[in-house]
Amino acid sequence: MARHVSEDPFRGLALPTSANRPAGAPHRAATVAFDHVTKRYGRRDDGPTAVDDLSFFVPAGATCVLVGPSGCGKTTSLKMVNRLIEPTQGRILIDGQDISTQDPTRLRRGIGYVIQQVGLFPHQTIAENVAVVPRLLGWSARRRRDRVEELLRLVGLEPGQHMNRYPADLSGGERQRVGVARALAADPPLLLMDEPFGAVDPIVRARLQDELLRLQRELGKTILFVTHDIDEAIKMGDLVAVMRQGGTLAQFATPAELLTQPASDFVARFVGADRALKRLTLRRVAELPLEPAPIVGLGESMGAVRARSGGRTPRWLLLVDRQRLPVGWVDGSTLPDAAAVDAAAAIRPSPLLGRETTLRDALSLLLDAAVRAGIVVDEAGRPVGLATIDAITALLHEQNDLTDGRDDPDAAPGPPDVTAGPTASGSRDDGDAPRGGRSPRAPRG
Ligand SMILES: Nc1ncnc2c1ncn2[C@@H]1O[C@H](COP(=O)(O)OP(=O)(O)OP(=O)(O)O)[C@@H](O)[C@H]1O
Ligand SMILES: [Mg+2]
Repeated sequence: MARHVSEDPFRGLALPTSANRPAGAPHRAATVAFDHVTKRYGRRDDGPTAVDDLSFFVPAGATCVLVGPSGCGKTTSLKMVNRLIEPTQGRILIDGQDISTQDPTRLRRGIGYVIQQVGLFPHQTIAENVAVVPRLLGWSARRRRDRVEELLRLVGLEPGQHMNRYPADLSGGERQRVGVARALAADPPLLLMDEPFGAVDPIVRARLQDELLRLQRELGKTILFVTHDIDEAIKMGDLVAVMRQGGTLAQFATPAELLTQPASDFVARFVGADRALKRLTLRRVAELPLEPAPIVGLGESMGAVRARSGGRTPRWLLLVDRQRLPVGWVDGSTLPDAAAVDAAAAIRPSPLLGRETTLRDALSLLLDAAVRAGIVVDEAGRPVGLATIDAITALLHEQNDLTDGRDDPDAAPGPPDVTAGPTASGSRDDGDAPRGGRSPRAPRG
């Protein structure tokens, strides 16, 4: 008989509070619970333990990433959710229902599955591949076709161009997208993804990850996502289950908790010595206190600028054109009152940052350009302030202070002294602007 889980089904399992359903997530998302699940292979379950007493809870609409070294039982765990493998002990509940009491075929139709190496049927067209489950569900040809077109567009493939081609005629990245479209075909409340982006190069992988994050904001599915790449886990997961050899759960936490409070040396090592930097992946430029950008318009006289700033004119001024787009930095101290500022006086601007740029990307751009501050621009490319290395490191230290007073061996004793030059050593009061030298870059977002 199907058992419904009442309150506190898994004593001692602390659910991180930040793992609530994303805002606006529809109700067509399932909860998933592993309740002391063990899997031993072998004819009489006497083989080595692939998954050992695994317990965790995934709220509806959350993405939970299972991560760990090869052979630690990730695929086995995933396959127990759609009953391609049966646990030796314990139960798995979807929406509180013990799945061992459900018909496996029906269960699987409610679960989208993207397998390691995509696994498209080579002799079926893309349209047929995507429509596999709708066909099993007996949808009409018309409805299937509409759904296939909708899904291909959703994953960024032009239906007219791709529907009638075969998997072999697609690039690796396109095949991965078709795999995702196929898993979404019947609008399942739960998606299982086993290294869905494992077979593509890093650039395509980053793009597919971004697309899945965007898609997930729209769809709000519950996703169990397997990877052995900790960076992918931190980027994709609302929750991360770190597994280790022998199929045990090393830690179940939000990415931020994982990075600030690794539960053991194993997790700390797995997360990496650069976890202080990884934490910056979770934060955006929008969270930084911005310094005001001292602006001068093209053609404006230095006298006017000085009058405007009441005698406290910063040395370095950000020159903007008539559309108020940044042109470069000018050294105002070299210009007499009568001089009208023109573009020839400007050195190239420092990196342009969007509000959505992660702090990790921002820091890397600043270090790359050897400047102290980046220009934060709005959607139209107009400056709204300066994001400084100081502000980023202050935020890093603030994060460290929040970790229960535990020492973070990765925390540097002081801010990095990487910005030697006219701008790094001076104080804010002389209005130091970053040193230029690089061409302006598009904001990353
Ligand atoms: N059918 C099977 N019979 C016996 N042992 C198996 C079987 N399938 C998997 N195993 C073993 O169970 C353990 C977990 O395998 P699993 O495929 O779940 O690992 P994984 O974490 O997905 O690894 P990878 O990252 O390499 O995909 C491994 O030691 C593997 O050799
Ligand atoms: Mg695997």
